Amino acid sequence: MDELIWAEKVSEKIKKKVELVAERNKNKIPYTTKDGSFDDMSQGNICWWTNGFWGGIMWQLYHGTKNEMFREIAEENEKKLDQNLMEPQGLDHDNGFKWLPTAVANYRLTGNLKSRSRGLLAANNLAGRFNPVGSFIRAWNGDDDGRVAGWAIIDCMMNLPLLYWASKEINDPRFMQIATIHADTAVKYFVREDGSVNHIVEFNPATGEFVKTYGGQGYGEGSCWTRGQAWALYGFALSYKHTKKKLYLDTAKKVANYFIEHIWENGLVPVDFCQPKDCSLEDSTAAVIAASGMLEIEKSVSKEEKKIYHEAAIGLLQALEKERCNWDDNIDNILEKCTAAFHDKEHEFSIIYGDYFFIEAIWKLTGQELFLW
Ligand code: GLY
Repeated sequence: MDELIWAEKVSEKIKKKVELVAERNKNKIPYTTKDGSFDDMSQGNICWWTNGFWGGIMWQLYHGTKNEMFREIAEENEKKLDQNLMEPQGLDHDNGFKWLPTAVANYRLTGNLKSRSRGLLAANNLAGRFNPVGSFIRAWNGDDDGRVAGWAIIDCMMNLPLLYWASKEINDPRFMQIATIHADTAVKYFVREDGSVNHIVEFNPATGEFVKTYGGQGYGEGSCWTRGQAWALYGFALSYKHTKKKLYLDTAKKVANYFIEHIWENGLVPVDFCQPKDCSLEDSTAAVIAASGMLEIEKSVSKEEKKIYHEAAIGLLQALEKERCNWDDNIDNILEKCTAAFHDKEHEFSIIYGDYFFIEAIWKLTGQELFLW
């Protein structure tokens, strides 16, 4: 089937399903489904790092349909996150994931000044996590015993756009400087020679010296956590978009090339590209984040290279649509077989950002893109 016709059909299926799903879940902030129904992190953990993606889905649907219900739900998600803004342990390297698809999206679309303030508060907190001697943005919070004060993680690359936005918004280069210094550190310490990436890198927080790497949510030290690879390829592509620094585009391509070379024959991906051969655990979120990231890379490369990233993205999306999408209107999620971390007890369930990036990628293919990063 022609690629555009296919993508338009998928877009229609998304609109039909999400309208029903949103209507019956309008007061929630979902993370996953239990027996086909969304849970509610606004009751469970308002500080959870994925709490911006439901709002992001709603803004994407509002953009694609102009149905006011989606805007109202997105605004409710954003207001609920104010409780998170007041929690010192609730703010971290993932501020971009929470406030770019909610408050910053709202401000960009409607000019709401309260939303702008929310975005700037989140950006200031993210910038405040910068370690000047180590040239990195600190990852998680920990127990204030300093144990993880020197940890940086690859996921943070996807949060840097909050800093790029803040710099432009208040005409102050400090935020962009912090973002690019962190991105330069990520090029040096996270990306390996073969294009695979580390999840966690530890520095001495007092001297800035490199200490060691950890496998983090992947299989183990020196392995290649698939979603980390996807955050890296999309994150570097976004750093290139915001700075035009060629190093970031070259890095995004190098990381994407590794990803493409390791996609399974059935078009899907494992949780870690280095997991044992007899382990069939999958992560659909990594596949869909990588696909949307490759569509971003495609915008900035030569005609010959466009073909490589475009075809790889389409391959991933079509495999997911065929094998891993649930179009039953009575089930709340779309994407299935998503995995948070290799060593967790539970694997292969639905995760809200899987649905977010699937919709985002399909919108890119059908001329409905709403850029949130
Ligand atoms: N940012 C954490 C994750 O990707 O699971």
